[in-house]
Order: sequence, then structure tokens, then C-alpha cells
Amino acid sequence: MINARADVNQLLPLKYRWAWERYLAGCNNHWTEVAMQADIALWRSPGGLSHDERLMLKRNLGFFATAESLVANNLVLAVYRQLTNPECRQYLLRQAFEEAVHTHTFQYVCESLALNEGKLFNMYREVPSIADKDAWALQFTQALEDPDFHTGTVESDQRFLRDLIAFYVVFEGMWFYTGFAQILSLGRRNKMVGIAEQYQYILRDESIHLNFGIDVINQIKIENPHLWSEVFQREVRDMLAQGCELEIAYGRETMPRPMLGLSAESCEQYLRFVTDRRCVQLGLGALFGATENPFPWRSEVVDLQKEKNFFETRVTEYQTGVGLAWD
Ligand SMILES: [Fe+2]
Ligand SMILES: [Fe+2]
Repeated sequence: MINARADVNQLLPLKYRWAWERYLAGCNNHWTEVAMQADIALWRSPGGLSHDERLMLKRNLGFFATAESLVANNLVLAVYRQLTNPECRQYLLRQAFEEAVHTHTFQYVCESLALNEGKLFNMYREVPSIADKDAWALQFTQALEDPDFHTGTVESDQRFLRDLIAFYVVFEGMWFYTGFAQILSLGRRNKMVGIAEQYQYILRDESIHLNFGIDVINQIKIENPHLWSEVFQREVRDMLAQGCELEIAYGRETMPRPMLGLSAESCEQYLRFVTDRRCVQLGLGALFGATENPFPWRSEVVDLQKEKNFFETRVTEYQTGVGLAWD
């Protein structure tokens, strides 16, 4: 996975079939624009959403609008350079495209609802809990974007592992989850159904990103057991604890009062549950012992097969390679 001298241009024979499987899973999830008419009507209607719902929605979009770019830049400028296995790079190219689709989604929502784009896309500097999350993640990618950075020493290999953990596990695997719960709660109440449908697609993509990242980290651990020392494991647990605290603060700032069957407290409980799951996926002991998921409906909503008609919106399915004529 790291520090190999394999040929980056030769895909076959595959070394890691799981990476190729993740790539195929990503391709099978292809999706495009979703209808926004119902959302626009509700957003424009004075009594359509409460003041708190509007505040939550704007801050929620404000985090995601730039988060997708932060993740994409780390992927292309840091991860792609250090991960030299060809099938993993094939997956990274697919993921980079999906992150571009996600960024496009927030541009599309912003345009559809005629939101103040300068304000929305600048929230990562102006809303404290969003700024704190992004500043925390950026410290892990900055050193790696230096052209002189190379893996190959214990120190630099561990630095790369920290970047993978910060972005794949904390950013994509923990920080999107309050936001997903908020928007899917709107959708379950038949509000902002177009946005909710797009979040479902993003959530489906993100679960593959997370699982790919976990596989990469665990494979690096197997191949380089000396990197996964007791001290380093403690450090990773601290990172996850910090990530959890930052996300809890974001829950409070987006949701000062309970709404839509959610509250900052229930989101906090949910985040502890999610954090513990991430610990276990990395082979670490749970941090909180949070065994109960306060939002069991979330796991149903993730399963899009059951979910096609959930919001009673039109699902635009992308046709791949169907009906192409060559004459
Ligand atoms: Fe994304
Ligand atoms: Fe992602």
C-alpha cells in the first residue's frame, strides 16, 4: 500500500480485489440531478419552514458546501500521491469524481433556493463550529501537500496514517452524520424532499468512501505492524475523541433548540455511537461504550433499495451503456 516500487501504470493482475470491488460499487451508484420544485415552493412559502429549521438548513448546507472541496483536495493532493497501488488509485479517481458531484450538489441547491452564495460558501470561516472542524482537519493534510513530503520513515508513514484517519474516518465517517440525520429528518416529514434525496445519494457514496478508507488503513496496519504501536493507537483514539467533540459542538450550533424529533443531546448520543463503531472498525476499543443507536430509522433510510419511493419524488436513474448505437 505504501513505499512499494510496483508499476503504478499496470492495473492487472490485481493485488487488492477489495479495492476493485469498491470501485465497481461506486460506479453502480451513479446519480445525477434531482428535481427541486417542491423544495423551492416550500422554501419560498413564508410558513413553510420554522425559523429554527431554516437556520439549521443554512448552517448544514454551509458545512457541506466546502467540506466536499476539503475532502477532494486532500484526496488529490495528498492521498493520491502517497497511495501507489493501481487499483486503489482507480478507486481514488472514482471517489474524486464523486466529490465533484457532491460539490456540484451544493452549488445546485444554493442556486435553486436563491441562497446568498457568498455567505453560504464562506461559513467555513464565519461559523465557529464549522471553522473549528475544518481547521482541525487541515492540520493533517497541510504537511502532506508539501511536494517534498514522502512516506518511507516511521514518522512520515504515521503522518500519512493520521491524514487517512482524519479524512476518511473522522471527516467522512463522523462529521457528515449529524448533517445527514438533520436533512433526512426533514425528508421524513415530507419537507425539502429534493435536498433529502440528494443527501441520501451522498450518504450512500460516503459509506463506500469510509469503508474504502478503513480497508486501506487496516491493510497498511497488516503490512506495517510497527506503525500501529500502543502510543500511536492512543493517539488515534484521541483523534476520534476530538472529532466527536467538534461534531457535538456543531450539533449545538446548528440546532440550538430541539426540532424534527432531533436535539443537540440526541445527536450527541448518536455521535458517540458512531464514534464507537469507527473505533471497532479500526480494531480499537470503544471510547464511550455507546451501544444504542438513538436513530434506528437511519439504517433503514440508508438502504436505497427499500427507499426508492420513500419521499415520493422522482428518482432519476442514470443509464450506463444502454441503447448506444454506433452507426
Ligand atoms: Fe462527498
Ligand atoms: Fe466522500
